[in-house]
Amino acid sequence: MTDIAQLETELLGAVSQAKDEAALEAVRVAALGKNGSVSALLKTLGAMTPDERKANGPKINGLKDKVTAAIAARKDALGSAALDARLNSESVDVTLPVRETPAEAGRVHPISQVIDELTAIFADMGFAVAEGPDIETDDYNFTKLNFPEGHPARDMHDTFYFPPDADGKRKLLRTHTSPVQVRTMLTQKPPIRVIIPGRTYRSDSDQTHTPMFHQVEGLVIDKGSHLGHLKWILEEFCKAFFEVNAVKMRFRPSFFPFTEPSMEVDIQCKRDKNEVRFGEGNDWMEILGCGMVHPNVLRNCGLDPDSVQGFAWGLGIDRIAMLKYGMPDLRPFFEADVRWLNHYGFRPLDFPTLAGGLSP
Ligand code: DAH
Repeated sequence: MTDIAQLETELLGAVSQAKDEAALEAVRVAALGKNGSVSALLKTLGAMTPDERKANGPKINGLKDKVTAAIAARKDALGSAALDARLNSESVDVTLPVRETPAEAGRVHPISQVIDELTAIFADMGFAVAEGPDIETDDYNFTKLNFPEGHPARDMHDTFYFPPDADGKRKLLRTHTSPVQVRTMLTQKPPIRVIIPGRTYRSDSDQTHTPMFHQVEGLVIDKGSHLGHLKWILEEFCKAFFEVNAVKMRFRPSFFPFTEPSMEVDIQCKRDKNEVRFGEGNDWMEILGCGMVHPNVLRNCGLDPDSVQGFAWGLGIDRIAMLKYGMPDLRPFFEADVRWLNHYGFRPLDFPTLAGGLSP
């Protein structure tokens, strides 16, 4: 039967030329489907004589087996080609930058960053962090700190007062972090070594002043604490904070009611157009106030000035943040504008440590 051989050639040709799985399926249906050419041949077997069937049966069944096997082999080949094509088109470029997760995309405010930096530096020198409330009594904010009632030094602070309580006393928004010195001395026994970062309030607003701002206070009380210790601590702090090998500092006499003697401290810097650099140059910049804790303050806090003494300092966090990170205006610090925060903020997973580096 030449037509069987011819049909085989045709069908195997069609199988090998099928371009995709759909074309191959069409060939299968045309050959082996209900009305397919091979199925039609198989049907002729029933009408044949036994001798004819003996001669043609193996040929027709052989054709069916060959075509079935060829289709299966082609299907395999097409399947792996399709998989290869898909793998090629769906490949991922692992060198592309990854989008940040929400935890990484947030930004730490420069004030929080600087407080973390201060804490790392002073913790390394053995200081603990103390805190107190923003709403303070007149007694802790002024009187116990040796600002007598009616003393003109009270007017140096543009204080926000609350309406008088039932007892006629007015609470206030603390004008400095110094009242936490009082709270600490009233509750802890010397030796005391604390820093006190926190919010402070004065009625003032311009490019470098906002009604709410931040200070960090330092307090050391012990038997023999003296100005030499204070000077060393402040120098080590400035070097670590501004990340320079050496700084020159200048201690000028000044006045604060709660310290005697009192000093203001300038650090050496170089002013270059709009930039300020520390650890070099011939200019000076005032950065903090300090002094030996006044004996009246020690007494007001239940300590005996004949057996303990100490020193304290206070500085503006916002100001040193502006200086260190080159931010010219203080007001946007508190405007909650995410564009500003994206620009000046810090990555939350880069936590400042002395060993790993303070600033990123
Ligand atoms: N409390 C002062 C202020 O706000 C700063 C200050 C000066 C704090 C001297 C101190 C200090 O502890 O010793 O102006």
